[in-house]
Amino acid sequence: MNTILVTGGCGFIGSNFIRLQRELDPNLRIINVDKLTYAGNLENLAGFENDENYVFAKGDIGDAEFISGLLEEWSPAAVINFAAESHVDRSILDSGPFIQTNIVGTQVLLDACRKMKIPRYLQVSTDEVYGSLGAEGLFTEETPLAPNSPYSSSKAAADLLVRAYCHTFGFPGMITRCSNNYGPYQFPEKIIPLFIANLLEDKKVPVYGKGENIRDWIHVRDHCRGIDAALRNGKPGEVYNFGGNCELRNIDLTKRLLKALDKPESLIEYVTDRPGHDLRYAIDCTKAERELDWRPEIDFETGLAETIAWYRENAGWVERVRSGEYREYYQKQYGDRLSE
Ligand code: NAD
Ligand code: DAU
Repeated sequence: MNTILVTGGCGFIGSNFIRLQRELDPNLRIINVDKLTYAGNLENLAGFENDENYVFAKGDIGDAEFISGLLEEWSPAAVINFAAESHVDRSILDSGPFIQTNIVGTQVLLDACRKMKIPRYLQVSTDEVYGSLGAEGLFTEETPLAPNSPYSSSKAAADLLVRAYCHTFGFPGMITRCSNNYGPYQFPEKIIPLFIANLLEDKKVPVYGKGENIRDWIHVRDHCRGIDAALRNGKPGEVYNFGGNCELRNIDLTKRLLKALDKPESLIEYVTDRPGHDLRYAIDCTKAERELDWRPEIDFETGLAETIAWYRENAGWVERVRSGEYREYYQKQYGDRLSE
């Protein structure tokens, strides 16, 4: 593979993926298409401006002419679609941008790739398309889709479009579905970076409901390694789940963060629950282990300590992303729910 086209490469996972690809192959040409929404930050790829095998193209995946032009110009061996509106709480406040980018944007990409006969397409999806688990069980690739939030419904719709294009047109698409990522460059609206950033400033942390909801945590580098493995060894038409084998209740995660940062439990504030809040996610990733020879490598304790250290050392990055639009969103989301 000498050229790949990545969408959403200025976001959290996309930027980590681009850095991993550069580590693996200094000669790979990487085209990064990003609209630079509130979540897209050029600073996440600082240093790449001087990389002659890296091209940044600012634009919308929903812009058919722009996307076709790029595919014609670069003829990538693979397109990897990270671009999305990715935050559940925002989708509850306004689902419009989720429908537009996650569904319509995916359809535009699929049509353009089909027309240009791009040999490989990978849709980066989420375990949230499977809905919510009770106390027992794991999501497998065969679990029926039952999304519960506007975000997860838009991701499930995109997955179904990929599936339909594979089935109807023999399109060479794959889907990967991963659990909750953590690591450097994650926008401080998701629980781990939000809580670290707040605690570093001795601010309260807003735990939804009773904090009993469970998420499975995976380091972003392990997720990116999985996507790389699927790209190299996955089969068109297939779905691959990735998870970290690390289930934690939100309240236990919060207490670990408090302990690691040496902060008192009085900084916990229980706030009104997220509407429709999924109880539990947990992943069976034996298919990826068996067929892609992939498994998560970074244990949570080490990964979390490194992540905390990264946010401590990059307070300026946090400050910059928290200014402007993000501040308005933060006020709307928590303004009347969180005391000082
Ligand atoms: P993110 O919000 O940090 O980044 C999204 C990126 O997409 C940003 O750079 C943004 O500018 C860009 N973008 C948004 N709309 C666009 C558009 N219309 N055209 C071009 N670019 C656009 O998201 P993330 O956490 O890095 O997630 C990346 C992908 O991985 C998403 O598809 C998400 O659904 C999926 N995913 C995320 C997680 C997680 O835990 N964060 C887990 C599983 C799957
Ligand atoms: O499972 C994969 C998904 O993980 C991805 O598809 C999404 O893009 C990503 O945002 C993430 O979704 P979640 O909704 O699970 O992540 P979030 O960090 O928003 O919330 C994690 C848990 O923490 C969830 O149970 C809600 C809770 N929470 C979250 C926030 C932001 C709180 O208790 N307080 C908060 O302030």
